[in-house]
Amino acid sequence: MGRKYNSYCVLLTFLLLAVPITSAAALDQAALLRQFVKSRSRVQSSDGSAETDPWADPVSSFGHLPTYCKNPKGSKEADRIKALPGQPPRVNFEQYSGYVTVNEEHGRALFYYFVESPYDAASKPLVLWLNGGPGCSSLGAGAMRELGPFRVNPDGKTLRRNRHAWNNVANVIFLESPAGVGFSYSNTSSDYDKSGDARTAVDSYNFLLHWLERFPEYKGRDFYIAGESYAGHYAPQLAAVIVAVREFTGKNPTSLKGIFVSR
Ligand SMILES: *[C@@H]1O[C@H](CO)[C@@H](O)[C@H](O)[C@H]1NC(C)=O
Repeated sequence: MGRKYNSYCVLLTFLLLAVPITSAAALDQAALLRQFVKSRSRVQSSDGSAETDPWADPVSSFGHLPTYCKNPKGSKEADRIKALPGQPPRVNFEQYSGYVTVNEEHGRALFYYFVESPYDAASKPLVLWLNGGPGCSSLGAGAMRELGPFRVNPDGKTLRRNRHAWNNVANVIFLESPAGVGFSYSNTSSDYDKSGDARTAVDSYNFLLHWLERFPEYKGRDFYIAGESYAGHYAPQLAAVIVAVREFTGKNPTSLKGIFVSR
């Protein structure tokens, strides 16, 4: 299948990048790359004025963010799904879904669907899955067509199990991001015009802090960020925010172990 092949490509790329660069030509390329990154650290905004690229120095852009959620709301029990409509019998894992407010002032909230592993969930890592787009629903695509525990049957009403579901080996959060995608929304309509990578990453970070208060047993659990397509931006950017907070505060908001992205 294409997706499998793509994953190999990504892995291969990582392996190639891991090979030590020794030749003079390669060193020149490294210098060129540094020059390029430097040139990108100042970008032109739409009105023509230069503005600082937030990713050029993540520690100063994001390091000051809180390391825990100061005002947690909602509860795991309130988010528990007894059964999805049309789900097959003998579902042997827990499912949850709900909203996390990521900006109180604007009334901006992100929707998630969370499935635990049927097999010893307490010993399995936590994976945050992000579809790309921008604008692709992680519930409609990621959960129901790709790696979730169920697939929708042709009748459009009932579900069947997906044998290759990722929750066989992990506890998976499907996050609809940014606000405006899927069930995620904002009560301040102008938010939809001002979406961007930096705010998306900060919202997802706030989501995580808040979510971990609702599911405290996952604090300190090995954590991975995964996604496809435009999530090739979202995943490393959210990781950069987490690492920036860690570097700035010396505290570890999550136990981030890695990211994986596929095309
Ligand atoms: C958005 O507005 C509705 C209607 O007033 C309210 O019920 C909801 O809680 C608000 N959402 C957020 C995230 O504040």
